[in-house]
Amino acid sequence: MTVKVRKAIFPVGGLGTRFLPATKAMPKEMLPVVDKPLIEYAVEEARQAGIEQFIFVTGRGKVIIEDHFDHSFELIEALKGRDKKVQLDSLSSSKFEPGQISYVRQQQPLGLGHAVWCARHLIKDEPFAILLADDLILSKVPCLKQLVHAYDENGGNIIAAMNVPPDQTSRYGIIEASKSKGNLHYIKSLVEKPDPSHAPSNLAVVGRYILSSDIFSEINNVKPGMGGEIQLTDAISQLIGRQDIYGLTFEGKRFDCGDKLGFLEANIAFALERSDLGDFRTVLSKYGG
Ligand code: G1P
Repeated sequence: MTVKVRKAIFPVGGLGTRFLPATKAMPKEMLPVVDKPLIEYAVEEARQAGIEQFIFVTGRGKVIIEDHFDHSFELIEALKGRDKKVQLDSLSSSKFEPGQISYVRQQQPLGLGHAVWCARHLIKDEPFAILLADDLILSKVPCLKQLVHAYDENGGNIIAAMNVPPDQTSRYGIIEASKSKGNLHYIKSLVEKPDPSHAPSNLAVVGRYILSSDIFSEINNVKPGMGGEIQLTDAISQLIGRQDIYGLTFEGKRFDCGDKLGFLEANIAFALERSDLGDFRTVLSKYGG
């Protein structure tokens, strides 16, 4: 029997320099895809996977995220007064029960591993999920739910994975698998952002993880890696051989919303899914789409 995954970490401390000037005063996680901030898609996905405790690792300039997930009394009363039911319903996925959401600050941008480590006292000794909001995933079954399912069946640590073009390995953590069972790949080694000439494969890490709390002592010991940062990939790599670590090639399409083209494509793909935006196809066709 595995222990239920109840808690999720959302690292949202990054600077978002690739989206300046939009992200000068606004966190990149608040950029909307159609009409919903990126971070809210990640939160919805976590909820659908059974997550009950939401932990945000924030940084300077990110208080708007706290306001976004707070109860907005005046807005709700105004919408009720005007009988705006659709708009009221649209606020439901940013609503939390008291105590369900916590914020911890990463005081210095020392890397993803360090951001995750900042939440160690809130996770304690339970298995937990990590969701990177930049990775937006369109799928029938929410991606984290697919990971939870694999975790319930196999235990261990599960990382979302997908094949990327071989010339793009230097953008991702890259997995070397020793054996595969269906879409689950037993990880033999992991390397952060290798040059294509040194990459062990083109199976890349996508920003969804289920990890055991033993990762915290590994992060504690890990030396700064790629870019001088404390890398989560390096800490997971240290667990190999002591715990089972799997890559799961999930069903769905992932959009890199940390990149302008990926972000634009996500807007198109998500708009096309929306029944209330039926005219969007006509709009797109004007541009040869
Ligand atoms: C992070 C991880 C990397 C992973 C990627 C997925 O990198 O360090 O291993 O492949 O997310 O999006 P980042 O994109 O934050 O530099």
